[in-house]
Amino acid sequence: MSTSKRIILTGATGLIGTRLFAALRERGYEVVIFSRNPSRARAALPGAAEYVTWSPAESGPWASAIDGAHAIIHMAGAPITQGLIGVRWTPEYKREIRDSRVIGTRGIVNAIAAATHRPAVLVSASAIGYYGYSDDTPLDESSPPGRDFVAEVCVAWEREAVRAEEYGVRTALIRTGIVLDTEGGALAQLLLPFRLRTGGPIMPGSQYYSWIHPDDEIAILLMALEDERVRGPINATAPTPETNRDFCTILGQVVGSPSWLAVPEIALRIALGEMADLVTKGQRVLPKRLQELGYTFRYPTLKPALEDLLT
Ligand SMILES: NC(=O)c1ccc[n+]([C@@H]2O[C@H](COP(=O)([O-])OP(=O)(O)OC[C@H]3O[C@@H](n4cnc5c(N)ncnc54)[C@H](OP(=O)(O)O)[C@@H]3O)[C@@H](O)[C@H]2O)c1
Repeated sequence: MSTSKRIILTGATGLIGTRLFAALRERGYEVVIFSRNPSRARAALPGAAEYVTWSPAESGPWASAIDGAHAIIHMAGAPITQGLIGVRWTPEYKREIRDSRVIGTRGIVNAIAAATHRPAVLVSASAIGYYGYSDDTPLDESSPPGRDFVAEVCVAWEREAVRAEEYGVRTALIRTGIVLDTEGGALAQLLLPFRLRTGGPIMPGSQYYSWIHPDDEIAILLMALEDERVRGPINATAPTPETNRDFCTILGQVVGSPSWLAVPEIALRIALGEMADLVTKGQRVLPKRLQELGYTFRYPTLKPALEDLLT
């Protein structure tokens, strides 16, 4: 496909954004990167049409770059887990997690509203944290939101994004699960003890991890950009979430290291405080909308996904 449509991408320097930037360029899009540090973004990701200074605010000089763009893919936000060891959700950091998303998204939509030539589509990141923590009850896009910190952030973040619909902009909210990436995120954290042959489940072990292979995550973001049927919330998770115990057993098989040393919940609670909920509680999320839309997962099951990434 060849097109010179202009796409605004925030969060391009992140785990998902880096892969997405490459995929957009491969498809011939002209990408404008919005970053808090454009010179660092330029060094890390050469080849963008422009590097624009952007940080979460209700307005800013960057707004003019949105006028005339075909689409905005908005991925930026302060990391919810900056690695699990030694980081706590202090009140200040919680505010940063929330404001970076809520005020950041508000500013993007304000700029859409003010544009003479509005974009056709806004693809806005969200997370399965929207649903809160749950037992083994399957959750789909019609399930109600949770009431914990991350859920409240997701609700407020999505509320800002859907305002774009009022201005005639098709808006997709991508509720992403645990993106399997060896460079960062949950998989990188889980891998370390397995590499040291001290891997094992995080208790209670029955909590569900709703994961997704990065290739599927990128394909879903591109589908949201290009397929006019995609609108509203979309769960970006593989159709086979696994309990933590099964996840660790499969991970152990793939890396050739047994899953045996269970991590007690209390140890994580002492080390991480409230953040321990992210790993000791889970959610069993299903990609109902994607399946209705006929999306075919490249990696619908965990073992081939991990084999692709780790062997
Ligand atoms: N990775 C996952 O497993 C996962 C799961 C569910 C949802 N998500 C959501 O998907 C989006 C992208 O995820 P990701 O893993 O690629 O994120 P990431 O690696 O943490 O990067 C996101 C980008 O956001 C920008 N950023 C960082 N701190 C910020 C702050 N305080 N204010 C404004 N911008 C800030 C940075 O770009 P600059 O430095 O260039 O400004 C960074 O490259 C995030 O909103 C995340 O919550 C991710």
